[in-house]
Amino acid sequence: MREAGVNLVTVGVFAWALLEPAEGAYEFGWLDRVLDLVDDHGIKVDLATATASPPPWFSHAYPNSLPVDVDGRRLWPGSRQAYCPSSPDFRRAAVALTDALAGHYAGHPALALWHVSNEYGAHVPYCYCDTSAAAFRTWLEARYGNIAACNEAWATAFWSQTYGDWAQVLPPRATPAQINPAQALDFYRFSGDEHLACFRAERAVLRRHTPDVPVTTNFMVGHLKEIDYRPWGAEVDVVANDHYSRSATEADIAIDGALAGDITRGVSGGAPWLMMEQAPSAVNWLPRNYARRPGRLRLAALGHVARGADSALFFQWRASRAGAEKFHSALLPHAGTRSKLFTEAVGLGADLRRLGPVAGSRVQAQVAVLWDWPAWWALELDGRPSVDVGYLDQVQAWHRALWRRGITVDAVHPEADLGAYRLVLAPSLYLVGDAGATNIAHHVGRGGHLAVGFFSGIVDEHDAVRPGGYPGAFRDLLGVRVEEFFPLPAGHAVALSNGWRAGVWTEMLHPDGADTLATYLDGPLPGSPAVTRKASGDSLAWYLTTQLHPDSLADFLATVTARAGVTPAAHVPPGVEAVRRRHEPSGPSYLFLLNHTSTPAEVPAAGTDLLTGCAVVDNVTVPAGGVAVVGEA
Ligand code: GLA
Repeated sequence: MREAGVNLVTVGVFAWALLEPAEGAYEFGWLDRVLDLVDDHGIKVDLATATASPPPWFSHAYPNSLPVDVDGRRLWPGSRQAYCPSSPDFRRAAVALTDALAGHYAGHPALALWHVSNEYGAHVPYCYCDTSAAAFRTWLEARYGNIAACNEAWATAFWSQTYGDWAQVLPPRATPAQINPAQALDFYRFSGDEHLACFRAERAVLRRHTPDVPVTTNFMVGHLKEIDYRPWGAEVDVVANDHYSRSATEADIAIDGALAGDITRGVSGGAPWLMMEQAPSAVNWLPRNYARRPGRLRLAALGHVARGADSALFFQWRASRAGAEKFHSALLPHAGTRSKLFTEAVGLGADLRRLGPVAGSRVQAQVAVLWDWPAWWALELDGRPSVDVGYLDQVQAWHRALWRRGITVDAVHPEADLGAYRLVLAPSLYLVGDAGATNIAHHVGRGGHLAVGFFSGIVDEHDAVRPGGYPGAFRDLLGVRVEEFFPLPAGHAVALSNGWRAGVWTEMLHPDGADTLATYLDGPLPGSPAVTRKASGDSLAWYLTTQLHPDSLADFLATVTARAGVTPAAHVPPGVEAVRRRHEPSGPSYLFLLNHTSTPAEVPAAGTDLLTGCAVVDNVTVPAGGVAVVGEA
């Protein structure tokens, strides 16, 4: 670890059974040796509370704490994270372990950070057991006050669902036909709050023992749909995120990582965050787990730093010989230190030391893309016009087009402060609350630009349609009225009058103050407007009624960004990523250039490359698969 420049290690994440082998009997000796050893070598510890996976003695003694899935099946021990977040037994036991652990390690010189649980909701986001049902009812009572208000919010008059008493209300368990969508959304909100309550309970104990040690938990922003991380940002002392990608190619993994970082900053309010876990090479939970080519560990890790991370931690340090994850990559692989992975870990450690001055600086963005977990949940519930419209797919498509142009985007909530952005993008923001809609209107009112994708602004937070023509929340802003959706058969393409190609979705639209920029040439609505723009004051509000093919979408966003006066972080050739971080308000800035191609790239820049120490005059050459970080002073 010293050779690789490691200065922080996460320890004990799944160690409950070793730390408390029987209820109330603690064994800290082995962990004392670990913490003392790393401390002797100047390494700090991100100490886990170890509560992510209760041991067998616990599930045996408290079988009702085991989670139940939507079909009513219990999930059993033998893997990890088998607990119901609403179980009072689980919460009591987790707090007891945290109390014992924090009491024991308070004041240990290696202790730098608390790591509560692990990836809340990663395996069991929702539990449908009777304990959860009772807790859900309590949560609903607090939200609605009385059952009539809940009936109203859930529109239970439809399909004979009117509840006469709280006792009749259940989680959205498996049903004969489609579940009530508002009930489902509230259950997802409730479930997030239950995980957060578990976090808060442990945090309260930690604060009591070690008021000066920051507390965090690792999110899975960009990956996990089921947890709304927005309320968590203010609960942790520092936002920490894990990034794992399902993409097959290294370029796509990098773009996934960029979006995850951009959303993570939205959660942290723009503050630097910790990259808590990433895979050094392959994972082991995909059908085919592709290893990374030489040099790509560094490129990926510094990609997260470019997006605002002030750390590069990995799962995992040393590959285990046994257990379920033995084929997951590690910085120290089965092959040992004579390996690509260890050599690259040593190189990365040296790079990170050179990037010390970057820590604390903030990513600079002129564009915001609106991002909201409940909008994601709602768009993908049953009974929508087309299964081919996915929320993440839409956001990814717009984000990817901007990534390719070197334009940095913050992914922020519709109610976030939009004052810093020239342009706000809303790809298929199906659900938006009144406060979000007003905030977006305010952005346009003060001269900000807006581009909205199809099937946006359709419903409120209860999944109730905003009537009078779609997109209800944005109709006036965009100067359009959509009468009916015309989704397309799988694989069908439509042509637009300006040469663009599109698919998946079309809409019957009537301009109402907007100009028509392109019409459909074919498909179900020939001659009907496909792309519109409304000018008001300095602001332009663009609307897309269809899913443009990637080249057409790139054209659209090139025009939209140019008209908004948005400038890229640097003028980069295709496949080179550019992001700027700055010590605000006007301190030194750092231009990150990451070359994802297999040929060297020339990029205009000036300053000093922190990684090589070389002066950069006019241009820097970024090697194939390499990185430059130009300190611009
Ligand atoms: C998660 C967990 C780790 C490990 C990795 C594997 O992020 O936190 O314990 O299982 O996934 O990719």
